[in-house]
Amino acid sequence: MEQGFRLFPVQASAFAERLDRLYWFLIGVSGFFSALIIILLLVFAVKYRRRPGRVAERTKQSLGLELIWTVIPFMLVMVIFVWGADLFLDGTIPPQGAEEIYVVGKQWMWKAQHSNGRREINELHIPVGRAVKVTLASEDVIHSFFIPAFRVKQDAVPGQSRTMWFEPTRPGEYHLFCAEYCGTGHSKMIGRIVVMEDMAYQTWLGGYTEETPVQAGEKLFTQFDCVNCHASGRRQRCPNLTGLYGTTVQLTGGGTAVFDEAYIRESILYPKAKVVAGFEPIMPTFRGQVTEEEMLELIAYIKSLSPTQAVPERSAP
Ligand code: CUA
Repeated sequence: MEQGFRLFPVQASAFAERLDRLYWFLIGVSGFFSALIIILLLVFAVKYRRRPGRVAERTKQSLGLELIWTVIPFMLVMVIFVWGADLFLDGTIPPQGAEEIYVVGKQWMWKAQHSNGRREINELHIPVGRAVKVTLASEDVIHSFFIPAFRVKQDAVPGQSRTMWFEPTRPGEYHLFCAEYCGTGHSKMIGRIVVMEDMAYQTWLGGYTEETPVQAGEKLFTQFDCVNCHASGRRQRCPNLTGLYGTTVQLTGGGTAVFDEAYIRESILYPKAKVVAGFEPIMPTFRGQVTEEEMLELIAYIKSLSPTQAVPERSAP
């Protein structure tokens, strides 16, 4: 793990290098203009200082000068905007086929679960060179999952599913922080990210016999009786969930919604908020009955019913 003082953490993800390039560009631009302004300030202060016999003149208008100081800053901020927006989108939207990991933040620890069911606390083992998508939830207050070496940070917000993704580029151990004040134990809500070679990661994952999130979700789906209404056939009173994930559904009363993780969560907690057109709002709420971990398992199961679908994807940069 990194020790000692460094101005910047190491760059351990593909995104880190790209983000730092923009960051240095911003520092360069700011530095250049700060220096320019300070130098001109000093030069003019000396050149136009008050001297006996000198009277202020009325300045002439200069269209050329005005155009220059309008057009150059405009082009600069447009470059920053396009560059920043491109980075933001690439950093926000996970590519398809990413390794799925579920993380729940609670006072004061990070609980992670891999797609084969293996769990860990305050540690996250991930493979190098592969995209990793983390779905974040919180059991109590707002936490923030922060990996400085990857230059990624995302809040874990109670009642929401948020995602983040990254692609580690070098094996090693890196810091994991909670970057949102969340109570007395906040400063101890830290951990480590262990980036491993793919083979080592597979070995680390392997031989694990606990239930996968999908299997656990399927059990919950039966246990909470969801299957009763959502099954296909004559008893079906609610939408059949097969193949729905990633699609856009029509809603009662007009409008549409993307059937994604946030929509599934909302429908489990507030079933009447967005009812699919053609169905009655008969689903009861499961607020207070489903823990955050169960919620993630249910979402994983419902997603697994649509193996070929994925929410708005973008190819890896
Ligand atoms: Cu969790 Cu700060």
